[in-house]
Amino acid sequence: MRLDRFLSAHGFGSRKASKKVLKNNVIMVNGELIKDWTMNIKGTDVITVNGKVVPNTPYTTLMLNKPSGYMCSMKDENYPSVMNLIPEEYRSRVRMVGRLDQDTTGLLLLTDNGVLNAKLMHPKTHVEKTYLVTVNHILRPTLVDLMNQPLDIGRGEIARPSKLEILDENHAYLTVSEGKYHEVKRIFGHFSYDVVELKRVRVGTIQLGDLKEGEHRFLTEEEYDSLLAITHLKKEEQL
Ligand code: URA
Repeated sequence: MRLDRFLSAHGFGSRKASKKVLKNNVIMVNGELIKDWTMNIKGTDVITVNGKVVPNTPYTTLMLNKPSGYMCSMKDENYPSVMNLIPEEYRSRVRMVGRLDQDTTGLLLLTDNGVLNAKLMHPKTHVEKTYLVTVNHILRPTLVDLMNQPLDIGRGEIARPSKLEILDENHAYLTVSEGKYHEVKRIFGHFSYDVVELKRVRVGTIQLGDLKEGEHRFLTEEEYDSLLAITHLKKEEQL
């Protein structure tokens, strides 16, 4: 891939703008200062912009800390779309990996790698997702065992066993391994709890960390590779 295309695919504006980026920044490929935007990037090259490594993947994969009041839809509907929160040049390209409810906050992945997206979402892949849950009344320790078995969550659906870690009277982490509609709220609903706040903190190997609400960042190459690994995709096939 040509350097200008690579830079533009990794968040440094349009291809035209990438040429400006090249003029105004220190771009290095394998430690060598580069001024020629027509150079070709290979899968093994290490690219830095002002000393920061730019993940060398042909795809764009981002994480967003979704705030409450945004919808996981491509366009604004009853609430603004989460797409408003990512740079314009990616909006038509990347797709959300699953959805969070309008009032749920936290980790949302977006990628233009359709195969990876489908694998992460496939019910048989069983990618774990961890949520920080706040409920409306005191959490009973017996819930840990009760949630760790298949549960009838209504509409003829059975949720797979989930892992509950109680933090205090009203807060817990719940880890689920599928993505049923309103799954966490329905699991707690089964035991007559209302979920008053819900924040996703992990998807598979990716942790939300200290990314602030409303902010996004590109996955590092290690993070991206770890997603390929859990979905059994081979890196060579992705280049
Ligand atoms: N489970 C829910 O109930 N809501 C979400 O947004 C995600 C998982």
